[in-house]
Amino acid sequence: MKADAIILGIESSCDETAAAVLRADGTIMAEAVFSQLKEHAPFGGVVPEIAARAHLQHLPCLVTKVMQQAGIGYAELDAVAATAGPGLIGGLIVGASYAKGVALAHGLPFMAINHLEAHALTVRLPGLMPDTPPDFPYLLLLLSGGHCQCVLVEGLGHYSRLGSTLDDAVGEAFDKAAKLLGLAWPGGPHLERLATQGNADAIALPRPLLGRQGCDFSFSGLKTAVARAVAQGQTRAEDIAASFQAAVAAVLADRARHALDMAPAAKALVVAGGVAANGAVRGALARLAEARGLPMLAPPLRYCTDNAVMVAWAGIERLRHGAIDSLSHNPRPRWPLAEMTPPEGKAA
Ligand code: KG4
Ligand code: ZN
Repeated sequence: MKADAIILGIESSCDETAAAVLRADGTIMAEAVFSQLKEHAPFGGVVPEIAARAHLQHLPCLVTKVMQQAGIGYAELDAVAATAGPGLIGGLIVGASYAKGVALAHGLPFMAINHLEAHALTVRLPGLMPDTPPDFPYLLLLLSGGHCQCVLVEGLGHYSRLGSTLDDAVGEAFDKAAKLLGLAWPGGPHLERLATQGNADAIALPRPLLGRQGCDFSFSGLKTAVARAVAQGQTRAEDIAASFQAAVAAVLADRARHALDMAPAAKALVVAGGVAANGAVRGALARLAEARGLPMLAPPLRYCTDNAVMVAWAGIERLRHGAIDSLSHNPRPRWPLAEMTPPEGKAA
């Protein structure tokens, strides 16, 4: 791979349509994200068919825009990378097909990127974090609306899932609790704001799986307890929000503590996903990392949530090993990280 290789990245696995142009040295030449929040808000959640249509509508303009902003022509690209799973299949087909079209038209390599791998590698993007990127292995806590898992990142294409949610993803739990409290979707940020005015000790909510072996997560019992508290009508919404948030933060820190016990070689605790924006969650995980003498790394929020820079960066990491994909590669709605393998091509 050329040291100054340039990649176009495309993300369309959920409700963000995104494109970015990235140079191998980590320079973000251009990036754009179109959030479909407004399209889905009336339904209180992501509607797959609406998402697919919105990707189809917005992606071509976004790609044109980032190419113009980067000030390059397609001939100057070295590869096109698109998220090919896991995610909502309609959106994946739109993004991957568009990327294949660009690759075919301009004779470029196509790269099918695993969305979870892209989240896992984001902190390695040079210049993104104030300190030098962490070495492998590190522990990744992926906390979003669609994903909730704990992964040991041992190397490129080498991941061990240590635990995941048995029911809801943590962002989903925030959204459901927020809905019960009458807040708008997506409710995580609204719930956090409400919680600032509440007392976290007001009600005793369960802490699912706390102290249990392993590092799986469970949130449905907590959601049921919130529903009960709301129905009883004796606790202020602010207090329920604060108590819920405290319970989630305590559970996440406990699960991460177990994960670090399971992976003593981990050199850092990396947090990604929309829930990483939550101050109480961040604080609890930062305290854990500090107690273990490890750095806690959370990419800046716009790179914690879904974006195309992370997809382009995963492409750069793979291109370095010559790992390109066939144009007949099919997107996959399910694509666990544990099924990934290290690239076989030559390192450059
Ligand atoms: O990573 P993300 O933007 O999208 C995917 O799920 O792929 O995560 C969105 C989730 C939503 O469930 C949202 O409510 C939650 O992250 N979230 C938060 C906060 N900001 C976003 N949850 C709690 N506190 C926040 N400040
Ligand atoms: Zn994501």
